[in-house]
Amino acid sequence: MLTVLEHPLITHKLSIMRDEKTGTKDFRESLDEIAELMAYEVCRDLPVKEIEVTTPIAKTKGVQISKEVVIVPILRAGIGLLDGIRRLVPTAKVGFIGLYRDEETLQPVEYFAKFPKALEDAVVLVVDPMLATGGSAVDAIKLVKDRGAKNIKLVCLVGAPEGVKAMEENHPDVDIYLAALDEKLNENGYIVPGLGDAGDRIFGTK
Ligand code: PRP
Ligand code: URA
Repeated sequence: MLTVLEHPLITHKLSIMRDEKTGTKDFRESLDEIAELMAYEVCRDLPVKEIEVTTPIAKTKGVQISKEVVIVPILRAGIGLLDGIRRLVPTAKVGFIGLYRDEETLQPVEYFAKFPKALEDAVVLVVDPMLATGGSAVDAIKLVKDRGAKNIKLVCLVGAPEGVKAMEENHPDVDIYLAALDEKLNENGYIVPGLGDAGDRIFGTK
């Protein structure tokens, strides 16, 4: 299922990120703030168990999140979403997948993977700002499934219809969350209108 989280605060901050004049500092800060806002919605259906709480006045019923949350940023750009989500889910564990997109073939190339144990029982949030052809997200999710993950959500900022289609064909069981669904990909595989190269803009590498 695809959910586009349209909210004035998210769209306002995303517009700052889209602007080619926005520098590294403001780009990174806006991404961090959007990640926190998105996390609130993405975590809406986290499983909870009922607990008893004793207030200074009386006993009452409360709830506790009952599943481990594991955040898996796709390196590099996915790191930009990590802190914002962790502010809302500070007990989350973190795994990393290193993938880069070959500039000629647009195929993802894996260079790193490190995960916490027990992905089978966790809610796994695979995060990356950009869902373009979908190759990176499809491969990253295959990697976490190979390690046992069953309850997976994909959290991206900007998606192209091509990437959403690739995800729906390869991983129909994975819910996708976007802040915006853009028009298309250009001939170089960049999202139009998009925001350019997310990794380069976060880390100032171009
Ligand atoms: C970007 C982005 C995604 C991928 C999306 O990463 O952060 O991981 O491209 O493209 P796709 O949907 O067509 O696979 P990139 O390969 O530029 O690496 P980086 O994060 O290190 O900059
Ligand atoms: N990766 C990016 O960083 N931006 C795009 O538009 C497509 C892939």
